[in-house]
Amino acid sequence: MIDLVIGDRAEVEVGAPAHGGHCVARHEGIVWFIRHALPGERVIASVTEVHKGFVRADAVEILVPSASRVQAPCPYARPDACGGCDLQHAAPQAQLDWKAAVVEEQLARLGGIKRSVTVEPLPGNGFGWRTRVRYRVDAIGRPGLLKHRSNEVVPLERCLIAHESIQALDVLQRTWPDRDVIEVVSPANGKAQIVENQRIVEHAAGHDFDLDAGAFWQVHPAAADTLVDTVLGMLKPQRGERAWDLYGGAGLFSVALADRGCEVTLVDIATEARWPNVTVMESPVERARLPKRTDLVVLDPPRTGAGARVTKLVTSAAPRAVAYVACDPAALARDLKTFAENGWHLADLRAFDLFPQTHHVECVALLTP
Ligand SMILES: C[S@@+](CC[C@H](N)C(=O)[O-])C[C@H]1O[C@@H](n2cnc3c(N)ncnc32)[C@H](O)[C@@H]1O
Repeated sequence: MIDLVIGDRAEVEVGAPAHGGHCVARHEGIVWFIRHALPGERVIASVTEVHKGFVRADAVEILVPSASRVQAPCPYARPDACGGCDLQHAAPQAQLDWKAAVVEEQLARLGGIKRSVTVEPLPGNGFGWRTRVRYRVDAIGRPGLLKHRSNEVVPLERCLIAHESIQALDVLQRTWPDRDVIEVVSPANGKAQIVENQRIVEHAAGHDFDLDAGAFWQVHPAAADTLVDTVLGMLKPQRGERAWDLYGGAGLFSVALADRGCEVTLVDIATEARWPNVTVMESPVERARLPKRTDLVVLDPPRTGAGARVTKLVTSAAPRAVAYVACDPAALARDLKTFAENGWHLADLRAFDLFPQTHHVECVALLTP
């Protein structure tokens, strides 16, 4: 039984980062998950949630700062304001190290895999990268972003991680009494715009992608090409090979594989992909009538991961290699465990900082039988 209530404060020694944007601390026998702190710091933490075996808390006073601490450039990146950027108080290298530690910990604890991980930065200074932003609107029409683990809107004047062309729109300077949400996109082919029902064009892997403005597309401008290069570098596709692009979306990986002479089958629950040498199946992956055998597989599932059933479906097709693109290291680690149980091996893993200033990290894993 934890004898603490919301708002209680304690002086704690902050430990290692954990998945989800917080660090772990142990204080008087209780596990604390503390946001806005850095490993090694001594802070006053204020309890924000009490659970059965742990509390959540915010570092509200930094008594002994880490050498990696910086002043967050955004005035809203603080415990009682916007919940978006949870790592702005960490220097760039410290953010990469934080994410590497989290991936290593998730692989070990959930996947049973001991492996050292490096998180690679993308071009840019870590700000102005977000080409898609979903602003929320409060009860009196002011646009902003949500507080951490809350539906409360924090009205903003500016979001520093939004793409510069999105920051230049006057969305945050107006009120929107008739809306709950305003989605904004900055596509490769034009100006930033509010998402209505229009089409946009994105560019990656040497192709233009004609998309519904609200469709899934990687958010960092360098992400799509980085992921395609990594997947191709790992799979080394050969002319004439068969490939599955599961959770294929607009066909980013399909088109790159088809360009290298593969016969591709793309599966996605909602797709408009139309590419030469790509057979498109609009279906849940779990129910897709896929050919019995394939040589290569790309798996790029949503945050929940592929799951045991899809993992089994992939290994049963006896491909020579699988590239798994993962936005959640916990889901990746669980699925890697299932791969291992089916006799598969993690042959390579790269991690990328596709979401600077936030705890999010993207991994690409190469699996071989
Ligand atoms: C992370 S996105 C990847 C999209 C694509 N690979 C890309 O890079 O543009 C995940 C995709 O999974 C699709 N999806 C989600 N659940 C699905 C399911 N059960 N079966 C098939 N596709 C699914 C979504 O429509 C989305 O396009």
